[in-house]
Amino acid sequence: MDGTLSQNDLSHVVETDRKHIWHHLTQHKPLETNDPRIIIEGKGMRVWDQKGKEHLDAVSGGVWTVNVGYGRESIAKAVHDQILKLPYFAGSAGSIPGSLFAEKLLEKMPGQTRLYYCNSGSEANEKAFKMVRQIAHKKYGGKKHKILYRDRDYHGTTIACLSAGGQDERGAQYGPYTPGFVRVPHCLEYRAAEQGAPVENYGEWAADQIEQVILQEGPDTIGALCLEPVTAGGGVITPPEGYWQRVQEICTKYEILLHIDEVVCGVGRTGEWFGYQHYGIKPDFVTMAKGVASGYAAIACLTTTEEVFEMFKDNTDDPLNYFRDISTFGGCTAGPAAALENMRIIEDEGLLANCTAMGDYMLERLNELQDKHKVIGQVRGKGLFLGAELVSDLEARTPMDEKLVQAVVGDCMGQGVIIGATNRSLPGYNNTLCFSPALIASKDDIDEIVTAVDGALGRVFA
Ligand SMILES: Cc1ncc(COP(=O)(O)O)c(C=O)c1O
Repeated sequence: MDGTLSQNDLSHVVETDRKHIWHHLTQHKPLETNDPRIIIEGKGMRVWDQKGKEHLDAVSGGVWTVNVGYGRESIAKAVHDQILKLPYFAGSAGSIPGSLFAEKLLEKMPGQTRLYYCNSGSEANEKAFKMVRQIAHKKYGGKKHKILYRDRDYHGTTIACLSAGGQDERGAQYGPYTPGFVRVPHCLEYRAAEQGAPVENYGEWAADQIEQVILQEGPDTIGALCLEPVTAGGGVITPPEGYWQRVQEICTKYEILLHIDEVVCGVGRTGEWFGYQHYGIKPDFVTMAKGVASGYAAIACLTTTEEVFEMFKDNTDDPLNYFRDISTFGGCTAGPAAALENMRIIEDEGLLANCTAMGDYMLERLNELQDKHKVIGQVRGKGLFLGAELVSDLEARTPMDEKLVQAVVGDCMGQGVIIGATNRSLPGYNNTLCFSPALIASKDDIDEIVTAVDGALGRVFA
């Protein structure tokens, strides 16, 4: 770590942080006696904290974000040059990087033709919800306004996104929620028995549960279905065989718009540009954020089809006819400038292929761990987006106590490897270890992560 700040300066930073910073998703009582962790610097797959301790980051900045790794000078330069030329202008006007990134991105998303800029995953999802509501008013007298979301999925932190949230611990105590959001069952096959599902054709069964909800609510009241392609914080849930095909059929049958939340999977995390592209899905809306510029600048995008776009300009005499929405920082040019360079890096360095190859390797290594440690109930995931569900009884699939799951995370941290776990998501089911190393990960990096987890499991469950 380069010593830009002296140890004295750093103790001041730590004390000031303790005094003034309200950290995200954190219970602060322990920070009265323990130092908060301050991350000072990053390079490649590694970060250094205030004590100079080096960590291998197996979660890309904690929340699946820094996909191309730390210390990318070319992104910094692209942002530097762009903000000197023009940092900002409201999104009612265009910008050079905004236009060029839209072209590059949409080339990779056949069927999607329009891009709306904003600056967080939650915000992008809110935009889609607003579009669905406005379409309901314009086409269906306001009736087809309900939005379906799935148990265990997460779509963001605002009240409307929490109303569409399938993670009850994220939403608890923040109600009352926005009306018009309706939950459908999850599709985690490992927990099928708890849902009373049949043993055969689980994927179709899980999709059919969505149809059941549609029929109960009335198809003429449902405007959209919002789903993660692979559920992230709800337990890294890869969809079962046959699920997506049936979901698409159901949406077509009842004229329900399909909104795919790619905030985590988008721009390479699963080895394709988008998670939905593994499953032949044709979305009406796609939202993305974290990996779009790998966290080098705040940027989120909503993309949609020309058909949806056309609905917002068919009557120029109506003053309410267009999408009356703005996102101030959606006009920051640093976002698309960083995103363009981020995409160039992924292409030129072959990071989608590396993600697939290293993801397969890591899955294999985690499966070996499963043979060794009887607390691993299931390993699942796609590309470098993997999870290991821990159980206290393999046969009964009893979820592991989350304190013990956190102890595994803590032990890895002690070894200098940062891994994640489902956290304040699902009552009783915060039991999945999460791995999402940057797409540049090598076999050596994966081995180091798996060795740390092996050691941690051995110690915590000795
Ligand atoms: C699937 C998914 N959607 C949306 C969001 C919200 O994104 P943001 O925190 O940028 O608002 C997240 C954040 O973790 C997410 O995992």
